[in-house]
Amino acid sequence: MQQGYFITLEGVDGGGKTTQLRRLADAFADCGVPAVCTREPGGTAAAERIRGVVLDKDFTMNARTELLLYLAARAEHVDHVVRPALAAGKVVLCDRFSDSTMVYQGFVRGIPPDQVAALCEFAAQGLRPDLTILLDADPQDLLARRTQRRVEDRLEREGLAFQKQVREGFLALARREPQRICVVDALQTADAVQAEILTAVEKRGILPR
Ligand code: TMP
Repeated sequence: MQQGYFITLEGVDGGGKTTQLRRLADAFADCGVPAVCTREPGGTAAAERIRGVVLDKDFTMNARTELLLYLAARAEHVDHVVRPALAAGKVVLCDRFSDSTMVYQGFVRGIPPDQVAALCEFAAQGLRPDLTILLDADPQDLLARRTQRRVEDRLEREGLAFQKQVREGFLALARREPQRICVVDALQTADAVQAEILTAVEKRGILPR
């Protein structure tokens, strides 16, 4: 039986995943529960290098290349960070995982979903999140927040229509797996978003009430 607990945060760019991941980690720390915070693509030296390539706005690449790079990063990350932490009984909080691949490379780029799903399964060797928080918002409403941030990467440059498709893709996944994927309105205040996330985590008994 797998020990530990695997939580992922997903959603369109600019929805506040990084902030909420940090807040959730703090909540676990306050309860004395060790949590490992990590991200995809990334989380190991090699995977961070792959991240640099796949998000480099100076590159163009076809959808298959993009998919395989994300999955190469995942294979490294799962083997060297996520699985060892779960085996040690830790909670793992990960900024994006396979749902992003299903949405961006499958739903939006158009690679057949069954192929993306099979390759995700292979890259992660069957590892799936126990709980996924989907920070949902209309990308139009997030535009202001996004432009305040650093320089846009290759995917953020795709524009509003792309981001709207991303949102639809995530919502379609959430409809298919309502038990695992908890949808939270990302346009609320950061405190309100955090409160909803904590409720979802507490309901599952991972975080003491
Ligand atoms: P981030 O900006 O949230 O760190 O994510 C990096 C970008 O990579 C984001 O635009 C989503 C994208 N992405 C994919 O297209 N496929 C994937 O499998 C993952 C993990 C991220």
